[in-house]
Parts: sequence; structure tokens; C-alpha cells
Amino acid sequence: MTAPTLREYLANPKADGNPAPRELSVLIEAISDSCRTISYLVSRGALADVLGSAGTGNVQGEEQKQLDVLANDELMAMAKATGVIAAAASEEEDDARPITPDAPYLLLFDPLDGSSNIDVNVSIGTIFSVLPAKAGECAAPFLQTGRNQVAAGYCVYGPQTTLVLTLGSGVVAFTMDPPTGQWVQTSAMIGIPEKTKEFSINMSNMRHWADPVRAYIDECLAGETGVRAKNFNMRWIASMVADVHRILSRGGVFLYPWDKRDPGKPGKLRLMYEANPMSLLVEQAGGKSFDGKLQILDVQPTDLHQRVSVMLGSKEEVERLELLHRV
Ligand code: AHG
Ligand code: MN
Ligand code: MN
Repeated sequence: MTAPTLREYLANPKADGNPAPRELSVLIEAISDSCRTISYLVSRGALADVLGSAGTGNVQGEEQKQLDVLANDELMAMAKATGVIAAAASEEEDDARPITPDAPYLLLFDPLDGSSNIDVNVSIGTIFSVLPAKAGECAAPFLQTGRNQVAAGYCVYGPQTTLVLTLGSGVVAFTMDPPTGQWVQTSAMIGIPEKTKEFSINMSNMRHWADPVRAYIDECLAGETGVRAKNFNMRWIASMVADVHRILSRGGVFLYPWDKRDPGKPGKLRLMYEANPMSLLVEQAGGKSFDGKLQILDVQPTDLHQRVSVMLGSKEEVERLELLHRV
């Protein structure tokens, strides 16, 4: 039997004979088309003159790269063309854009994650989150918790271009086959091992961490003679998409915690289009996510671009972090 394509998967995602809602299938296929386009631009790099700075900044005060802007424009145009997006929000735009009145979904995205890796030919990605639009019921319809997401996923532009997706019943992955452009299912029901020996954190921030994070990493570094009684390995790619993809592939724990550099800032990563979609994927794959107090999916957003402390991945490690934050 040949592996199903994304379209075939959407026709029967829960293997119960029922298709995904038609408008959701339209959206996921459209996102996959945009990711193919972005993947092509990424793969051509200097040949397509898309590397380097765009010479502009975004609402977060960060320099925009040309690919941040190109990917954003591609995804916004896609959101408009589908007819199923009531409004869309992006890391690269100050405010949400109203799109199709009375359409069923809100779309949030980080068009290009790992911008610092674009110009050095290291894996980068696109992250997306889909919320119900609840048209007319709420003055700030985007400010829903991550639990409300009806779909979430990312595309990693690495040695392969891989789309990882959850519609709320497990996590699946599709690899793009460049000669045909088809998305072919290459993983079904991805599960994160509960135990791991690998952590992922930017160690250069160690002196700024809060005590529980410091205590946790100290335990990992102590190795087999320490309280954890095992040796840990470390990886940090500095593209959340690539670091989370490794965790979904072989386990591990990822941390970008709050730190004392700017105490009023809750973290570096953004809740609504980075932490929430990744947390839904991780939970759906049997892992956990934590912000130091709550499961990330339970954090009530108050701002489209709000930041959050992020710890996610293999269950045993996140539970260890939860314990250290309680003492
Ligand atoms: P973005 O490129 O969308 O702004 O996100 C970058 C994020 C994330 O992908 C990564 O985990 C983190 O920034 C890396 O930060 P450091 O450079 O501080 O390690
Ligand atoms: Mn990002
Ligand atoms: Mn980005």
C-alpha cells in the first residue's frame, strides 16, 4: 500500500471514515501550498536574491529579513484567497487583519521561525495556529486559550521539507516530494518518548535564569553521579521549529524560560503563534508544556503578541520542571 497524501489524510483523518470539515481541509491544503512556495524560495536562497535584511522592523522591535516579509506576504495572500479565514494575525504585523466576514476560522502564524538561521543555511520553519472565529461574540476574538485551537502545525525547511500537523486527534507528518510537489505522509501518530537524556536551551543565558531552571539544568549537567543518575546531551539550533521537530522525532525537552535580563518581559517566545501551536502538537504527541505556573494551553492571552516562558517536551522532564517550580 502506498503512503497517503495530505489530501487523502484529510479525507479520513481519524480513520473512522469521516472527512475533516470541508473548510478546514481547504485551509490546511492552502497552508501546505504556501509552505511549498516558501520552501522553494528558501532552497534557492541567494540564487533568488531572498537572503539578508529587508531593512525594516516588526512590532516586536526585531529586524525583518527579506524571507520574513516574503513568507508573511505569501501566507496573508493565501488566507485571503481561501475564503475560510475571518481574520489573520502574524508575528510580522502589528494588528490582526480582517479578511472574510463570517468565515469560520482565525489564522495565526509565525511566517518564518528561526530568522537568525536564514543566512547561514540552517533549518528554519513556518508555524501556524487555527482558532474558531466565533464571529460577533467577542470584542477580541483572537484572545482565546490554546485549548481552543482546531488545528496547529509547522513546516520545517531542513534537509527535507516536512509538514507536521494536528487536527486535535494525534500528530502526523508529511514530507514534500520535490519532483511532484506532493505531500506524502511519512509519520502516523507521532509519540514523544516519556523519558529522554537530551535538553535544549540557550546556555549563554544561564546567569540570568530563575532558580528552578538553574536547578534543573544543574541536575542535568551533574550526569550519572547526580540526582538524575544519567548523562544528558544538549542541542540548541535556535530555530524553535527545528528544536521541536527533533523532540517530536526522538524526545527531549526544550526551554526558553523567563529570565532576569528584562524582568518585566514574560519570556522571549510568543504565546499565540509559537508556544500555543507547539504545545498542542507536543500534548497531542503525549508530551507536556509548562510556563512556570500553568500548562501553556491554559494561559489566557491578553495581547496578540504576548510573550511567555516555555518548557515543553518529554513528560518526565516537564514534570521534573513542574516539581522544581513548586519548591
Ligand atoms: P523568530 O525567528 O520567529 O523571531 O523566532 C526565533 C526564536 C526561536 O525560533 C528560537 O528558539 C529562539 O528565537 C532563539 O533565540 P536565541 O537567539 O536567543 O537563542
Ligand atoms: Mn519564531
Ligand atoms: Mn518569525
